[in-house]
Amino acid sequence: MTVTADLGVSAQVDAGERIGVPRHVAVIMDGNGRWAVGRGLPRTEGHRAGVAALRRIVKHSAKRGVEILTLFSFSSENWNRPPAEVGFLMGLLERFVRRDLAEIHRQNVRVTMIGEREGLDPSILGLIEEGEALTRENTGMTLVVAFNYGGRNEIARAVKRLAADVAQGVIAPQDVNEDSISRYLDTAALPDPDLIIRTSGEQRLSNFLLWQAAYSEFYFADLHWPDFDECALDSAFEAFAARDRRFGGLSAKVAR
Ligand code: FPP
Repeated sequence: MTVTADLGVSAQVDAGERIGVPRHVAVIMDGNGRWAVGRGLPRTEGHRAGVAALRRIVKHSAKRGVEILTLFSFSSENWNRPPAEVGFLMGLLERFVRRDLAEIHRQNVRVTMIGEREGLDPSILGLIEEGEALTRENTGMTLVVAFNYGGRNEIARAVKRLAADVAQGVIAPQDVNEDSISRYLDTAALPDPDLIIRTSGEQRLSNFLLWQAAYSEFYFADLHWPDFDECALDSAFEAFAARDRRFGGLSAKVAR
């Protein structure tokens, strides 16, 4: 059998920038707190610096031809942090949307959120939905903000809706398969991530894109997120380009 799997390289590869660039990149932006503590600063300063890194990476990803960039910005477990830190992160998100949305829109980036919307502060949710509405028609990179997101929570919500549709006869039990389950996830409209990057040296998924990561390549950077820059992203892409993706089949080189 010849391996014909989509290798997840951006389809619109044109000279230079896009060669070997993953189509969908997902990032666990870790290490803000350690970055700050290492400098004798409060953890919140790390988050502030993290937003600056986020701006750089969004811009550079779009420039390199990434089609979808998913950023783990707040997990469903992050609510367990001290209330002051949670409040600070919410404020950062709010300011980010207020200050950066126009620029993101100007860059032709489409913004969308994955994560549980129910129970979110209406003002935060309103801002996110405003961003989605403003950028809906944009044709450039899609920026997926994973907010109040947890992989197990996403799967549980999907199964709940799927079960309700089975009970109502919308879908027959024998038609439940991997594709139909995927269609009930928050990421229904998105391809699976080709590359998952985690900064700060930790090597775990932490409940991020559990279903979607089945065949993703992983890249662990030793830098804390605020230090992750354009060069670091290019290094991750270089490593990705050298990987041999088999999707459970044979190496494309072997199968030829
Ligand atoms: C991990 O660092 C980072 C987070 C929990 C939040 C990521 C948030 C940002 C980069 C900025 C805010 C987001 C938006 C969308 C504007 P950590 O605190 O877990 O670091 P540590 O592991 O060193 O403690």
